[in-house]
Amino acid sequence: MKKVNTKEFKKNSGEGGQLDEFVDSVLRPETWDDYIGQKKIKKGLKVMLGAAKKRNESSDHLLFYGQPGLGKTTLASLVAKEMKANLRIVSAPTLSRIGDLAAILSNLEEGEVFFIDEAHRISRPIEELLYSALDNGKIGLMVGKGPSARQIFLDLPPFTLVAATTRVNLISSPLRSRFGAIFRFDYYEKAEIEEIIGRSAEILKIKIEPEAVVLIGRAARFTPRTANRLLKRARDVAQMKDEKIIKKETVLETFEMLEIDEMGLEAHDRKLLETMIKKFNGRPAGINALSAALGEEKGVIEEVYEPYLIKIGFLHRTSSGRVATEEARRWLLIKSFI
Ligand code: ADE
Repeated sequence: MKKVNTKEFKKNSGEGGQLDEFVDSVLRPETWDDYIGQKKIKKGLKVMLGAAKKRNESSDHLLFYGQPGLGKTTLASLVAKEMKANLRIVSAPTLSRIGDLAAILSNLEEGEVFFIDEAHRISRPIEELLYSALDNGKIGLMVGKGPSARQIFLDLPPFTLVAATTRVNLISSPLRSRFGAIFRFDYYEKAEIEEIIGRSAEILKIKIEPEAVVLIGRAARFTPRTANRLLKRARDVAQMKDEKIIKKETVLETFEMLEIDEMGLEAHDRKLLETMIKKFNGRPAGINALSAALGEEKGVIEEVYEPYLIKIGFLHRTSSGRVATEEARRWLLIKSFI
């Protein structure tokens, strides 16, 4: 569990971690204006938070969902900042015992923003304790053992729960119904990704050619985290070649090193498409068959690999299964992959 004073967020999230994590925290937008994209969400949040502030209350609880790397945690940190509150971050799998959650809830400060990442992995008992915290602002705890055991109720200070997930359909409807607003994070527009790359390059004090920005943008899977990672890796390659500016050729070299192509496809994407094209010969492939052929979990294929391939028109989901499109086949042929 990390308790982060938003003022200290930038510093703390780099502490003790990898250098890359530190760089990420440097790139993290600190104001609403710095945060590029997700305009509808920002607009909705500004109204909710503004109104709550006028009433001198905590905001209603929020559920954020969408693909990894689209800025859910970053926006939660802006929510805390806007409310002049601390941000407390936990990942659901670390809440294994009721006592873990009870300890966090009972230590919350008034108005605090409590962020639970990977919310689809909240266990049943933890979810039930959350219900009473969200509904009545109280939690019931058992104290003592055997015949003298009794339940005591703890009053909690007002707080805002922000839950984030990549798999909203795994959030139970009783939990879902307790959020005042549910926000879906979309893939970013090409222009937004390019703007983010430009902003990050400026913060990292690196020069980059416009064509190199376009190349990184195209391979970034419409995802800021990926764009920033590719930019940093291209900077490494440029640095090793003692080049003062990141050029198109350097970016291509970086892609080769990372085994991704100009569309941002990784080995697992190519394997998935290749399996559909070769093994299924263009016939619709069932998710179970694909999962067995690739040795990968169904949920990972459906929620991690497929959305981007669908977005770029390389894969279609039909009622009888998945098919790789003609565009996908042509791209893999150009790349000599099939
Ligand atoms: N870095 C990561 N996500 C960002 C965003 N949405 N806006 C600006 N910079 C970012």
